[in-house]
Amino acid sequence: MKLNITCIPGDGIGPEIVAQAKRVLDKTASVYGHEITYKDVLMGGCSIDAYGVPLTQETIDAAKSADAVLMGSIGGNTSTSPWYKLEPSKRPEAGLLGIRKALNLFANLRPAYLYPQLKKACPLKEEAASKGFDMLIMRELTGGLYFGDRFTKEIDGELTATDTLVYKESEIRRIAIKAFEVARKRRKSVISVDKANVLDSSRLWRQVVNEVAKDYPDVTLEHMLVDNCAMQLVRDPAQFDVVLTENMFGDILSDEASMITGSIGMLPSASLNDTSFGLYEPSHGSAPDIAGKDIANPIATILSAAMMLRYSFNLDKEADAIENAVQKVLEDGYRTVDLMGSSNKDEVTQVGCKAMGDLIVERITNL
Ligand code: IPM
Ligand code: MG
Repeated sequence: MKLNITCIPGDGIGPEIVAQAKRVLDKTASVYGHEITYKDVLMGGCSIDAYGVPLTQETIDAAKSADAVLMGSIGGNTSTSPWYKLEPSKRPEAGLLGIRKALNLFANLRPAYLYPQLKKACPLKEEAASKGFDMLIMRELTGGLYFGDRFTKEIDGELTATDTLVYKESEIRRIAIKAFEVARKRRKSVISVDKANVLDSSRLWRQVVNEVAKDYPDVTLEHMLVDNCAMQLVRDPAQFDVVLTENMFGDILSDEASMITGSIGMLPSASLNDTSFGLYEPSHGSAPDIAGKDIANPIATILSAAMMLRYSFNLDKEADAIENAVQKVLEDGYRTVDLMGSSNKDEVTQVGCKAMGDLIVERITNL
């Protein structure tokens, strides 16, 4: 098969982790007889430096002409980088929000799974960690607070900032359908997260999700308030299968979920529209403080590449090969620094970003 992939390495650790994901993809392609072509384009801070804007039409076109997009991370240190002196619509994050909207990537899938080998890196109490967990956060990605009107102006003599949280029925319905469809292929449970005790947008969310649920009688549905969900995630994460939620709640809860997997460096993501096209990126940020040091964990990006093979190319065996290789590397005791946790230093070996890439590449085999 021919795979035409556009890459957005981005800023900070982005280029380092994408380089390792490409090596893993190349090895997988050579083992399974596929041919990959890559085109690298700029987005985020590096695009600001080159073109004065975080997202160019050229990058959008390059993404649209590909079968899928593999991304690293964008952005810099928000207190010190000159990118954050620009007006908000010209900052790196505006590029990411812009490409999600331009490509209509409304469904963001963020699986959070506790590898048995990483139990010691999980910060939860033994009784919670020992049960393990395997959840999928289905985050709505092109609506809500991140896309509503926002402005700051002086009202009654003081600066007043406004952000608006808007959801249309159709936006809720299409993400709810995705969640129930995925739940059918998993443990058939959806927990929909909202703040319906306060917000109108959440009350509509709940109503539409209840309507969609009627078409999926085989899937159980429960509603949970977001503050309770934040607490339940660290109390008993094993209760979650598919977590369906709106944009901002999903942003926050997925960072929380990633941390209990041992490290935010483990969480991949897929952002999908209604076709097989998708943009695949780690859930974590650009970690400017460790950029260029060869210590970043490339696993979230490598697992995002596996999701790309599965969702955009229907190459399940190849995706399994990558996931197995990651599992084996952890079994064999290799850890990037973020995964060291409370591990006994005699039992595990600390490695850098490139070495982790090498170890995973070595373990890609024809299953
Ligand atoms: C994420 C990030 C982005 C988001 C930022 C960089 C705009 O935090 O992908 O979770 O909030 O969606
Ligand atoms: Mg986030």
